[in-house]
Amino acid sequence: MTPHELHTTAKAMVARGKGILAMDESTPTIHKRFQKLGIEDSVDNRRAWRELLLTTPGLANHVSGAILYDETIRQKLADGTPFPEHLKKIGILPGIKVDAGAKDLAGFAGEKVTEGLDGLRERLAEYKKIGARFAKWRAVITIGKGIPSHACIQANAHALARYAALCQEAGLVPIVEPEVLIDGDHTLERCYDASRATLRRVFSELAMQQVDFGGMILKASMVLSGKSCPQHAGIQEVADATVRCLLNTVPAAVAGVAFLSGGQTPEEASAHLNAMNATYRNLPWPLSFSYARALQDPAMQAWKGSAANVVAAQKQLAHRARLNGAAALGNYNAGMEKEAA
Ligand code: 13P
Repeated sequence: MTPHELHTTAKAMVARGKGILAMDESTPTIHKRFQKLGIEDSVDNRRAWRELLLTTPGLANHVSGAILYDETIRQKLADGTPFPEHLKKIGILPGIKVDAGAKDLAGFAGEKVTEGLDGLRERLAEYKKIGARFAKWRAVITIGKGIPSHACIQANAHALARYAALCQEAGLVPIVEPEVLIDGDHTLERCYDASRATLRRVFSELAMQQVDFGGMILKASMVLSGKSCPQHAGIQEVADATVRCLLNTVPAAVAGVAFLSGGQTPEEASAHLNAMNATYRNLPWPLSFSYARALQDPAMQAWKGSAANVVAAQKQLAHRARLNGAAALGNYNAGMEKEAA
């Protein structure tokens, strides 16, 4: 894999009007999502759900890549086609979540550090063989009383950079995801400060580990007011603060920024992404999406675990993919929400 190939893959992940479908929920996370809707959690149901997503008609029109989980990348369609092979056939890049989850950071109550570096080189080589073209690692930064600490930001930034360097060595494009959580009553300004401090540290560590910015994607959280903050920042305010934060921290050479939805409603996630793209036309990088809940939730609610609802659920996913594809171009408007799914 030459640097050129990494660049080509990274560019394809943020191609115009397209984004990434995050469907890499770990087994405990998908368990929670199913439980909330009364869907039985079993290997078969998890496979059926992921098959539903991946066989949605027209998915590749607005989805460039799909992030899979270790269990999922080894699964097959009902007709026996392995998921990564199916994705390749329909023109969607297969990706893989490779971190081992966020664990309590020793000595820093309420803060997390993401694990998974041990043995990563070997795991990346195996995933590459199975068909993965890119990888994802998620770090979480919590805003609260006196946090995030420098120690937490530093530990996570260092791990993200080590992961990213290993990915590029293996010929996989790293998605570097430092998520500043939406939970809490913090203001938009506090989220801005925490996001700026985090991104500065992350890019400094990435540079230290000689990561090639043109062969990576930043998966960023938007600059939002906390979920329980009494003053809820408006759509344009979020768009302006997020773009300002990125311009102050993200090198121009980075191939693209794909946002996570992080607990926003599907409509908010589309509206925020759209406002950024509609307002700022000449940014150094494409701004796109890499949503899990904001793409999947309406579809999962329609599915309810029943084969009879597969078509209705796929229509919901196709609808959200189309709306976010429009938002990535700055062409979305709230009226489109009412169009038939
Ligand atoms: P959400 O869009 O649901 O936040 O998930 C994105 C993701 O992949 C988190 O790692």
